[in-house]
Amino acid sequence: MTPTLAIIYFSGTGHTAQLAEAIRSAASAQVTVEPHRIVGTDIVNGRFRCDKALDMIDAAAGVVFGSPTFMGGPAAEFKAFADATSDRWSTQAWRNKVAAGFTSGSCPNGDQSYTLNYFSVLAAQHGMLWCNLDLACGHNPSGLNRLGTQLGLASQGNAGVVPESDLLTAAHLGRRVADLLVRLSR
Ligand SMILES: Cc1cc2nc3c(=O)[nH]c(=O)nc-3n(C[C@H](O)[C@H](O)[C@H](O)COP(=O)(O)O)c2cc1C
Repeated sequence: MTPTLAIIYFSGTGHTAQLAEAIRSAASAQVTVEPHRIVGTDIVNGRFRCDKALDMIDAAAGVVFGSPTFMGGPAAEFKAFADATSDRWSTQAWRNKVAAGFTSGSCPNGDQSYTLNYFSVLAAQHGMLWCNLDLACGHNPSGLNRLGTQLGLASQGNAGVVPESDLLTAAHLGRRVADLLVRLSR
């Protein structure tokens, strides 16, 4: 059976959404991909209430977390989602799923690493297996991973424009996670 990869992300002005689409498109060659963009109506009185999104991750073999970096961490909308996963945490219902992450900021070093760090700790809380980025900045001819984060994809975009290199890095991450899911499913 073809494994399923969930992508759960928030995007305010669309940069993170462009990265999500690049991941979705690349991963789709090997696995079934189900994206969910967190929107304001998923959150009621400060709490994430979209059971459909949580059920989607229940059924997936892997998940990619995405959020812009806001004030050196994930956006409040993503954190609301993360807090809503605590029931799953208590039973370790998501243990051994593959997890990865991506983020966007407006600065080349706008503390995006802290958002990726948060994603990896969230994955660890759930007993998930973290999939990093296997791209040595400055030492691969493709020029991918231009900001040099290996925990996941850090991107930098402004005014709706995400550099091509970051979109290609997103596609690389999508292929990497999908390849891992296929290998684990054998
Ligand atoms: C409230 C707020 C806080 C932000 N904090 C940061 C930050 O800490 N570092 C950074 O590089 N960019 C920061 N930015 C810029 C956004 O991360 C950046 O524009 C990002 O690409 C937006 O992604 P989106 O288009 O998916 O919403 C901030 C923007 C907002 C609105």
